[in-house]
Amino acid sequence: MIVQISDFLRHVGEEVTIQGWMYNKRGSGKIYFLQLRDGSGMVQGVVAESEVTPAVMAKAEQLQMESSCKVTGIVSKHPKLENVFELQVNDIEIGQIPFEDYPIAKKEHGPDFLLDHRHLWLRSKRQWAIQRIRNQIIRAVYMFFDQRGFIKIDTPIFTPNACEGATTLFELEYFDEGKVYLSQSGQLYLEAAIMAVGKAFDFGPTFRAEKSKTKRHLTEFWMMDAEAAYLEHEDSMKLQEDLVTFVIQHCLQNCLAELEALERNIEPLKKIKTPFKRLTYTEAIDELHQRGSDIQFGQDLGNDDEVLLTQDSEVPVFIHKWPKSIKPFYMKTDPENSDLVLNDDLIGTEGSGELIGGSQREDDYDTLKAAILKEGLQGPEYQWYLDLRKYGSVPHSGFGLGLERMVRYVCGIEHIRETIPFPRMLTRMRP
Ligand code: 4AD
Ligand code: MG
Repeated sequence: MIVQISDFLRHVGEEVTIQGWMYNKRGSGKIYFLQLRDGSGMVQGVVAESEVTPAVMAKAEQLQMESSCKVTGIVSKHPKLENVFELQVNDIEIGQIPFEDYPIAKKEHGPDFLLDHRHLWLRSKRQWAIQRIRNQIIRAVYMFFDQRGFIKIDTPIFTPNACEGATTLFELEYFDEGKVYLSQSGQLYLEAAIMAVGKAFDFGPTFRAEKSKTKRHLTEFWMMDAEAAYLEHEDSMKLQEDLVTFVIQHCLQNCLAELEALERNIEPLKKIKTPFKRLTYTEAIDELHQRGSDIQFGQDLGNDDEVLLTQDSEVPVFIHKWPKSIKPFYMKTDPENSDLVLNDDLIGTEGSGELIGGSQREDDYDTLKAAILKEGLQGPEYQWYLDLRKYGSVPHSGFGLGLERMVRYVCGIEHIRETIPFPRMLTRMRP
């Protein structure tokens, strides 16, 4: 019977076959300990000379790192460790023995070497754990929005207009239509969709020609945008904190083995509950000054500022109501201060930085039109967007969660390049 390693708990004492790879081996002659993986998990296979035929013993000897193989044996509980199993091997069927040595050895490799071998690096335990957590985060997002009555709407990737400023657009020629861009965010299209379906989210690849080399920026990343009609600024922040809390709880319930494989200290994650802390941008600048920063009102927050603002907090922090001058055209003016907009950035704890950017959207036709022109954007490409303020305009808000930022946060990893299977960055396009 073919069984997944992750199901071993239900097969103790039974003979099973696993289909996978051998990633390491110890022992010699009389007994071999095979480290086996099948994608669902990892297990130690014990091959004892006293229990198997000489032919099986010979195959155990032949197996090299990353050989593919099917291994049959009896599932047993680890003598000492809880929830750890072993396979008492009876038979081995070799698939392929690598005909060159596997390039990723146990020794330490530099990041460039590992990234050049990303197609193989993905097999390592740490990368395996990260991708499984990423998958659970995606699942959690879908579950959350389904429970809240949002439907998934797929927004286009080729777009004629900019959503997040012209400086980070990837441009390409589109047949006879001229220049188009790769989407920076599906937001503008979601705004159209919610006037039909009320509440919607999208989840797909987005692109930014980020010229900066940081541990938090990719040029291709996955974003979940959410948008809802009749949702206003305060309630949008509530939705955001509920989403982030839900995702973290889901990971704590479903990814303990993976978090352990990453040696992630989960205590900080356990402490995350709503409500999150809220600071206006103005308060944040004051607080930064008190902490010795020389940031000026009207400047964007840097990584160091974000760390300063969250270092004493057990929960993520919203920085909201930013100066209009440094934010995109579509954000709604704060009715209490026309220099500010009703937006928020959500900053994670433990130095993880910005997870979400969101805002209430300008719903007045003339105000929005003026903002578009002021930003120097081409009027005609935004006419359909303006139309939404012509035919039954309503207050509405939304936000975008960067998937890789969230994976980085949950996994507690330093560099965003490990959060996505094949990272694209300023100087990295391959494999
Ligand atoms: O804050 P941003 O730019 O917001 C928007 O694009 C809005 N249109 C979203 C909306 O309201 N629907 O991006 C949203 C999130 C950021 O908070 C961050 O988590 C992530 O996307 N992000 C990046 N992640 C990785 N690499 C990059 N270069 C990123 N740029 C933004
Ligand atoms: Mg942002």
